[in-house]
Amino acid sequence: MMFFLFCLLVALVSAYPNREPCTGDCWTHDPALAQRQSDGKYFRFATGDGVTIATADSLRGPWTAAGSALAQGSDINLNGVNKTDIWAPDVHYENGVYYMYYVISKLGTQDSEIGVATSQTMEAGSWNDHGVVGIPANGEYNRIDPNWITIGGKPYLNFGSYWNDIFQIEMQGPLQAAAQAPRNLAFNGSLNHREEGSFMFQNGNWFYLLFSAGIANAYTATYPAPGEEYSIRMCRSESGISGFVDMQGRKCLESGGSMLLSSHGEVYAPGGQGVLEDQHLGPVLYYHYYTPEAKKAAAGNSGYRFGWNELGFRNGWPYIK
Ligand SMILES: *[C@@H]1O[C@H](CO)[C@@H](O)[C@H](O)[C@H]1NC(C)=O
Ligand SMILES: *[C@@H]1O[C@H](CO)[C@@H](O)[C@H](O)[C@H]1NC(C)=O
Repeated sequence: MMFFLFCLLVALVSAYPNREPCTGDCWTHDPALAQRQSDGKYFRFATGDGVTIATADSLRGPWTAAGSALAQGSDINLNGVNKTDIWAPDVHYENGVYYMYYVISKLGTQDSEIGVATSQTMEAGSWNDHGVVGIPANGEYNRIDPNWITIGGKPYLNFGSYWNDIFQIEMQGPLQAAAQAPRNLAFNGSLNHREEGSFMFQNGNWFYLLFSAGIANAYTATYPAPGEEYSIRMCRSESGISGFVDMQGRKCLESGGSMLLSSHGEVYAPGGQGVLEDQHLGPVLYYHYYTPEAKKAAAGNSGYRFGWNELGFRNGWPYIK
């Protein structure tokens, strides 16, 4: 009975199951997660230092730091930006090659570019940079936070952060965007248009668009009012290219976006998320979060940690299992 009451209490305190465990090197920021085809080994990529790599044989760890993807920096020349300050990697596998989309940007400006690098193994030092993918600059969007997906056999790159939020452009091939105007997928007209870090995946007949909503950092002395910090939202569409709505049927171009995961327990401000189709576990949501201790200590970027949970589906929507 006591145990039952305890469980009930835990359930009432937190709306979500706890994050799954992580041991070893659990720091990450804007993670990308991929499983190597040949041996099932996990590679985790993060913002900064030429895109840092950590590897593990299990999602639980132990995770080991394994160098940088582009230690010499990107080929992209953005005046005044350190070439190793590479953000928001997005990694996928296609026909024997791993592709990494990445960002060079001046924080808080639209002075940004999305680039791409390739590797056959994902190991540090094995990545070849190909530079920009060629998305045209436009005052409506910021060319950061890339995420690749195929829809009906055609490749697309989703991207965007603030301004008019999340956009999609068709790709001519993995290294080059098509000569087309990107289309808007999601937009929140309130306040500073706080949507970014989108990630799209398919399950059954639906394409799910996840994005991080809210304030991404400054989780210290000036941390956001409760609920204004990062959280993971979701929308869905059958076409994957338009018509995204949330669980209430609100259009995601009109400030829609249902909550998939928000701050709970030891997990503050989850975001920078993605979904891995794990060879054994099925769909896994992964993200970075901030620890309450890091928040108290004003730990800056060092306070981010790697979180993950298995995803289930109920009534056509994902939930944290
Ligand atoms: C660029 O950033 C790296 C860390 O990613 C640092 O080691 C290096 O000194 C920086 N270079 C310049 C010119 O600031
Ligand atoms: C839209 O922005 C407002 C203001 O930041 C926020 O309260 C709301 O939760 C946002 N909606 C979504 C779906 O992100």
